[in-house]
Amino acid sequence: MTETLALDPQRIRELFDLRGEHFVTRGGAFDEDPYPAFHRLRETGPVHEGIVGPLVGYHGEAFFQGLPYPDRPHFSVFDYATCQEVLRDPETFSSVPPPDSPEAAMAKSVMLYMDGEQHRRYRALVQSSFVPKRGRWWIDRWIQGTVDALLDAIEPNGRADLNVDYFAAIPLLTICGSFGVSVADALRIREAAVSDGQGLGVFSEIVMPIVEARRREPQDDLISVLVQAQITDEETGERHALADADVLGFSFLLLTAGSGTTWKQLGITTYALLTHPHWLAAVRSDRSLLRGAVEESLRWMPTDPMFARHVKRDATLHGVRIPEGSVIHLCFAAANRDPARWERPDEFDPTRPPSTHLGFGGGPHICLGMHVARAEIQTAISALLDRLPNLRLDPDAEPPRITGMYERGPTSIPVVWG
Ligand code: HEM
Repeated sequence: MTETLALDPQRIRELFDLRGEHFVTRGGAFDEDPYPAFHRLRETGPVHEGIVGPLVGYHGEAFFQGLPYPDRPHFSVFDYATCQEVLRDPETFSSVPPPDSPEAAMAKSVMLYMDGEQHRRYRALVQSSFVPKRGRWWIDRWIQGTVDALLDAIEPNGRADLNVDYFAAIPLLTICGSFGVSVADALRIREAAVSDGQGLGVFSEIVMPIVEARRREPQDDLISVLVQAQITDEETGERHALADADVLGFSFLLLTAGSGTTWKQLGITTYALLTHPHWLAAVRSDRSLLRGAVEESLRWMPTDPMFARHVKRDATLHGVRIPEGSVIHLCFAAANRDPARWERPDEFDPTRPPSTHLGFGGGPHICLGMHVARAEIQTAISALLDRLPNLRLDPDAEPPRITGMYERGPTSIPVVWG
């Protein structure tokens, strides 16, 4: 893992800047607290015509799943029960984008944009690498080594911006490591993604030779799982290996879904602990509380505050008529603070009794990588607490702020220790 030590903090800062150009289209300029508006919209709805951003007063750029679709009616849902009702009825509220839309091309190979049997078959191809008991495989092979090497680099300094110096690289190197991609190439992929908003060209250039090598000689990694997977053809019923384009599409989805999200949720969880020092002290002395703290951060402030569905037939939700062809946005962040489900919903309390939240979504598309994300966040924060004594926010630095409308996370997490 000596490669990891060579990470250049300035380069990482440029590649992971929530206020940078890449995030503008994700509502990066939004830096207010949306939760008071979420409460108001739930109380006066919970289903409203319109899009979450403008409904809370944010009118900047919006490019996210289900957006922009300027020619379609949009609706947004702000309570827990109605979000679950929509998630559990994929025949009415579908993940498949309309055929004339820019997202439609992805519906052929990207499971996020599939429904029903096709979705189930694609998801089943990799599910076994993402079950809870595979957590150790991820930790031992990729997470722990990255975490230790990054801490080796920052420990002597006595201060760091954890958001950049520690959290940013952990999910990127975990998922790229599981593809057999080197640290240097993982950073090239990130660079391409930040510069053109996608980075698929560079990704393909780097991953295709690995796909070819694993077809010849499989190893204990994810690309090998994908090239060995057999999918049943919907029309002929015959089983065949995934085409190269499908392997690429699949692995690209894992990279895009799994790196930025976990980075930002790592930051949110640590922000929550540092700004609630009694919980930080409790977790430090009783590490079994960490699991609850991670779950609570996903409820209290999920990095993905909303996802959308496409309405395939006329429906009515809470008395609001939703015509076929509409886009419906499920505001998971608002649903996660629904007082009908949680007492003191605005409070960060890692000792709440476990209950299902929507930080990883719900229904058939519930986050495939959630156990990997949990393993990364728990391993990274536990190592922080083991190695950096008396960890606290840097009193001389600007305090961290959570920003973003469609993807949320802290701007920076300046800390000192010792
Ligand atoms: C804290 C980190 C993460 C958060 C908050 C998160 C959140 C989500 C959410 C809300 C969805 C549901 C989308 C929908 O309903 O349309 C989702 C789906 C997905 N996530 Fe995650 N995710 C995280 C980490 C990961 C990781 C680490 C991976 C992979 C290594 C991953 C892979 C996926 C995939 C493949 C899907 C699509 C699943 C499907 O369509 O069946 N995610 N994620």
